[in-house]
Amino acid sequence: MSEIKVYPDPTSLAWAAAEHFVAQATEAVAARGLFTVALSGGSTPRSTYALLASADNADRSGRQHPREFALRVDWPRVHVFWGDERCVPPDHTDSNYCMGREVLLDHVPIPRRNVHRIRGEMEPEQAANEYERTLQSFFDARPGEPSPQFDLILLGMGGDGHTASLFPGTASVHEEARWVVAHYVDKLSAWRVTLTPVVVNAAAHVTFLVAGAGKAERLHQVLAGRYQPDVLPAQIVRPTDGQLLWLVDAAAAARLQQEVE
Ligand code: 6PG
Repeated sequence: MSEIKVYPDPTSLAWAAAEHFVAQATEAVAARGLFTVALSGGSTPRSTYALLASADNADRSGRQHPREFALRVDWPRVHVFWGDERCVPPDHTDSNYCMGREVLLDHVPIPRRNVHRIRGEMEPEQAANEYERTLQSFFDARPGEPSPQFDLILLGMGGDGHTASLFPGTASVHEEARWVVAHYVDKLSAWRVTLTPVVVNAAAHVTFLVAGAGKAERLHQVLAGRYQPDVLPAQIVRPTDGQLLWLVDAAAAARLQQEVE
């Protein structure tokens, strides 16, 4: 099942995404004693991560409102992974881990052992193989067996319709066995490591965060256009049993016939 929720602006979107994260974390910890989440890279989720790190009790209009996101998550029971990583050192400005650590993880009481980064500093294929072993070990599963079921995977969507590091025209979009792959992205002249659709589509909740007018045309193509995941890799995200949710701002939703929340 998929759902689209449209918010007036990026700030409202970030608040909604933070509430969603808290809700999923609360539900997972109550049900199973832990919450497994794969963070997205890119710029859109930054403001959500900043909210999750805050004990800020002022709501988006400045009224005092006991949100205090950081205090509402049982961080010692949260395990953080990444949906993809750039093949750079962990302190590099392009590193998705670096962004997540600086904006969120350094500000909440999550044990270091609960932070499972993709080691972008390694040779890409080795980094992918190592991360696959990390997932196998953590989820106690093996390739070929049912893939790990994350409680939540956060994703963004690039202007070309890519998601995670599943880029148009790459074999990773149609990977059906491996959980993590590395590939060279010609258009970026860079290596990336990414979860494959095998893992993404096994998640209990997959949530896209998309904002900005620049995404409007592509978002319309992805959601309302012909199914062509080679061209629009975000379309390959169709959770088998999980919930697909699109949290978008009005600018990105300009081409969609959707009511604003
Ligand atoms: C990455 C992300 C990537 C990102 C999209 C959208 O490593 O860059 O995983 O898939 O989510 O490119 O990026 P923005 O949020 O910056 O538009």
